[in-house]
Amino acid sequence: MNAQAKGRVVLKGIRKTFGSFVALDDIDLEIEPEEFFALLGPSGSGKTTTLRMIAGLDTPDAGVLEVDGVDMTFAPPGERDIAMVFQNYALYPHMTVRDNIAFPLKMDRVEKSRIQPQVVQAAERVRIEHLLHRRPGQLSGGQQQRVALARAIVRQPKLFLLDEPLSNLDAQLRLETRVELKQLQRNLNVTAIYVTHDQEEAMTLADRMAVFLDGRIMQVGTPDEIFNRPQTISVAAFIGSPPMNLLPATLDGRSVTLEGHSIELRSAPPCPPGRVTVGVRPSHLRVDTGGIPARLYLTENLGESRLLNLLIGEKLIKMRLTEPGDFADGDTVPVLFDAESIHLFDAESGLRIDND
Ligand SMILES: Nc1ncnc2c1ncn2[C@@H]1O[C@H](COP(=O)(O)OP(=O)(O)OP(=O)(O)O)[C@@H](O)[C@H]1O
Ligand SMILES: [Mg+2]
Repeated sequence: MNAQAKGRVVLKGIRKTFGSFVALDDIDLEIEPEEFFALLGPSGSGKTTTLRMIAGLDTPDAGVLEVDGVDMTFAPPGERDIAMVFQNYALYPHMTVRDNIAFPLKMDRVEKSRIQPQVVQAAERVRIEHLLHRRPGQLSGGQQQRVALARAIVRQPKLFLLDEPLSNLDAQLRLETRVELKQLQRNLNVTAIYVTHDQEEAMTLADRMAVFLDGRIMQVGTPDEIFNRPQTISVAAFIGSPPMNLLPATLDGRSVTLEGHSIELRSAPPCPPGRVTVGVRPSHLRVDTGGIPARLYLTENLGESRLLNLLIGEKLIKMRLTEPGDFADGDTVPVLFDAESIHLFDAESGLRIDND
């Protein structure tokens, strides 16, 4: 990033309603130039609506959108210097790949002699230069997706908006294209805003991300911050595959009591005794003779690991096991909650209790 870097996007108090339905409520975001920023959230949480607002395809009911310090809230899309890639690519079926990629340049009335070199360069960047003469119907899904990318980057916009661009690809191609997309964004030095409901995609691609739930932003941070320090129970319950185990407990000084068993923390969290929710990732649980007895009721074999579904009292928890271990469904397994790796949340407010 440098002082002249372009593509800083700021949203302040953005609100969007459809009839009486509030799709976005008080959205604040600051996206830095050249950042790869992901909007992550479940279906219907408001990601596409936010992106359409930034693209100018929709306008908010309240709030301000600024790009590089200029108020763009009501600017028409053509004035925003953005390119958008949609989930369904939206290529023109009757045009060749060459003409599809050239289209934005023609709309911009770029001089004819400059169009072809730019088209070839964009095609080379996404490795489809050998397909320029074909029509979209003669391409695979992955190739069509590259054409959509080439068409988006050919104008060298300062903002690159992507709405689930990989979701039509098969699992293998999605993984490959993910890496290429990140490389492409780095080489282009543009700001990318990337919508996905796939947390692995968000975690691997994004420099930072915003977690959306029900039209609100629950947390903004780096993938590490979001994964390692979820600020609310709702984020904790969404991130991770499977997500954290969340169990009701009581806290008193350094002691957390969970289904009648107590766990000693290293130090007392800065809060009064009371009801809390304990969070622990499946991979942070261990089998240890000092652990809490749990009944194994189902083992899921995932190849590289096993997921043990266990019952502590009435509560179901999941433990990821990478080491061998001879457990049969129905066995009682001692499960150790490592005090170092548990997360605490206030049971009333749902907010994280920081303890360090
Ligand atoms: N034009 C519209 N009219 C009415 N409701 C709408 C309209 N567009 C979106 N919504 C509603 O707003 C909410 C947010 O929609 P949005 O498309 O932003 O979700 P999303 O997070 O992109 O979800 P997905 O992952 O399924 O694409 C949804 O409940 C949706 O039904
Ligand atoms: Mg969407």
